[in-house]
Amino acid sequence: MTRLVRIEGPGDPLLLEAAALLRSGGLVAFPTETVYGLGADGLNPEAVARIYAAKGRPSTSPVILHVAGAEAARDLVAQWSAEAQALADRFWPGPLTLVLPASDLVPAIVRAGGPTVALRCPAHPVALALIRATGRPLAAPSANRSQHLSPTCAAHVASSLGDAPDLILDGGPTTEGLESTILDLTGPRPRILRPGPVTPADLAGLLGPVEVWAGTADPTLRQQAPGMQARHYAPRAELRLVPPGAGVASTSERVAYVGFGVLPTLPEGVRGILLPLEAEAVAVRLYALLHDLDAAGFDRILVEHPPAGEAWLAVRDRLGRASAKEQP
Ligand code: TXA
Ligand code: MG
Repeated sequence: MTRLVRIEGPGDPLLLEAAALLRSGGLVAFPTETVYGLGADGLNPEAVARIYAAKGRPSTSPVILHVAGAEAARDLVAQWSAEAQALADRFWPGPLTLVLPASDLVPAIVRAGGPTVALRCPAHPVALALIRATGRPLAAPSANRSQHLSPTCAAHVASSLGDAPDLILDGGPTTEGLESTILDLTGPRPRILRPGPVTPADLAGLLGPVEVWAGTADPTLRQQAPGMQARHYAPRAELRLVPPGAGVASTSERVAYVGFGVLPTLPEGVRGILLPLEAEAVAVRLYALLHDLDAAGFDRILVEHPPAGEAWLAVRDRLGRASAKEQP
């Protein structure tokens, strides 16, 4: 049976129990500033294998190791560059994941057999306290079934993963709402593999102009890279992107219509949802909104194309994936 416990802060004694569970190979879901993670001892291959089983995750998709700081990251990489140090100094703790050449310490299952490892230091007091108490890097993908919506509160974890976690730590709703930015530092120049709360403009100050992997910009393309399938982050209801102002014809289906800044006139029976023209505010609410619409049993969710511009990159990316057709 999964236990769900409320955590009052980084000093909560329940964190010691959670750390002991992790050290003995258990699965503990915990809050971060982005989304909830499903954590295991990142140096224990059997424990990490339980994550894959719990999520129904393909073995080709590597997992992120969560560390308490740059010091711990250094042991896990073959080479810690000046660039990595500068990025960690500026953005850690925070929603930036760095992909680097892995050291021999990192189990193959964490890397999905590849030569690189993804590292992140989360900006959440409970996550940091848990990592420190465990004394290990924590392997933690988002705490949801593979290809489904990421959880932004503990109840989402419980409904997506059922009894799979041994323990769920409830630290309240997350503050960023979308998964971390993933930056690949193993190529000739830094490249964003997944847009997120840390934007290309944020990175440009340190790195100059940063390439955003085209695969994430066009979510309808089929991807070779692990974990970057077109369809991802999807609700159960059919989600379709429509031009701003398109509206919807009257229908007998249960339809929700999501607009930005202003809503067109909608037929009776269609639930209209107005989101602000502010990317960060939308990012924080997006998954919770889709979870709610799923729970309410809507058949279709029509979402207007979000505004253009870099600030909206992560929101556009996730909505694009959520609307991509299911793959065989
Ligand atoms: O905000 C986040 O990053 C959350 C919280 C829990 O930290 N975690 C998260 O993990 O979103 P996950 O597993 O749901 O997504 C991680 C993505 C996957 O698409 C995976 O393929 C990619 O990171 N990834 C992991 N290791 C990688 C590597 N070595 N090279 C390239 N991509 C990698
Ligand atoms: Mg995920």
